[in-house]
Amino acid sequence: MRKRKLPQNFRILGIETTCDETAAAVLEGGKRLVSSEVYSQVSLHKKFCGIVPEIASRAHSEKISFIISKALGKIKSNKPINAVSFASGPGLSGALLVGKIAAETLGKIYDVPAIGVNHLEGHLFACEFNCNDVSKRLKFPLVALIVSGGHTELWKVDGYGRYRILGSTRDDAAGEAFDKVAKLLGLGYPGGPAVEKYAFKNKCDAVKFPRPFLRGNFDFSFSGLKTSVSYYIRDNKRVNVAAVCAGFQSAVVDTLVFKTISAANRYNVKNVVIGGGVSANAALRFKMSDVCKQNDINIFFADKKFCSDNAAMIALAGHKKIEFGARVNDLKQIDPQLRIKNWRFSK
Ligand code: KG4
Ligand code: ZN
Repeated sequence: MRKRKLPQNFRILGIETTCDETAAAVLEGGKRLVSSEVYSQVSLHKKFCGIVPEIASRAHSEKISFIISKALGKIKSNKPINAVSFASGPGLSGALLVGKIAAETLGKIYDVPAIGVNHLEGHLFACEFNCNDVSKRLKFPLVALIVSGGHTELWKVDGYGRYRILGSTRDDAAGEAFDKVAKLLGLGYPGGPAVEKYAFKNKCDAVKFPRPFLRGNFDFSFSGLKTSVSYYIRDNKRVNVAAVCAGFQSAVVDTLVFKTISAANRYNVKNVVIGGGVSANAALRFKMSDVCKQNDINIFFADKKFCSDNAAMIALAGHKKIEFGARVNDLKQIDPQLRIKNWRFSK
């Protein structure tokens, strides 16, 4: 794929509405983040200990104009943007539709292309941000571990838009397992940060839980681990919450690290990237860095503020796609089950 150079003042608006964050961001020249606005719906979903799709889509439609206006508000120009990108999947269908309609409407208003990008691809590119600048470059080939609330996937990436899926979860995603265990322990939603906090405070021996390694392939399975935690809580009158969190977290971390490093070694790849909400977890970052170092592998992860859902990563993914030839009619349909695909653009 041939890359074309976009002007330094080329501004793209990214829109993210896949799940429970309504976000908009403007990226200039593929380098400088002009704005990045995120409205989190956590307070709306908290009492249900998980995301309620209907509430999510309604909240997106209520907030989207405000968030986009805030993101565009910093630009003093009557042509504020040259393109719009929106996350076209995977995600909740009603929520995705809100982002698509907003993107296409703005595309028409400003007479600029609106293109869809894969949300998970956004999590990969998020690693290129350093504060508000895109000053880090992914090094290829790489193995990417994308760990979020809905997905746990391992990819081999040979270049921008050149993917091969090595494995994915057969049941719960890693973030989902954190959320479910937090619910079992009464720690609220979202579960990942709460479990991490308790695990960090643990002073006793961590409870031992099985590591779901599924040897011989690069798939994951976390539902058995979650069931082990639920049996442990059922069978023990006095539960040390911190020791359970520490034991569960280290089982998840060991599994993610084992699979990722096995994939890197199997394909002789010297670069590893972790992205997605769970990649904010300090124990995962620490262990992955340590094991990468022992295996002479470079590790990349996003700044913590770009690990969870945001629109800066969607703007960057859109910018890169346009550099590599995407046009207005490419990838416009939303797809709640969207899989990562190699970039191929119409001539
Ligand atoms: O990528 P993300 O923001 O949204 C999705 O695309 O799903 O990921 C959200 C997930 C939630 O399951 C949340 O519990 C988890 O990421 N998460 C964490 C941490 N921060 C967020 N899991 C473990 N440790 C964390 N520090
Ligand atoms: Zn995400």
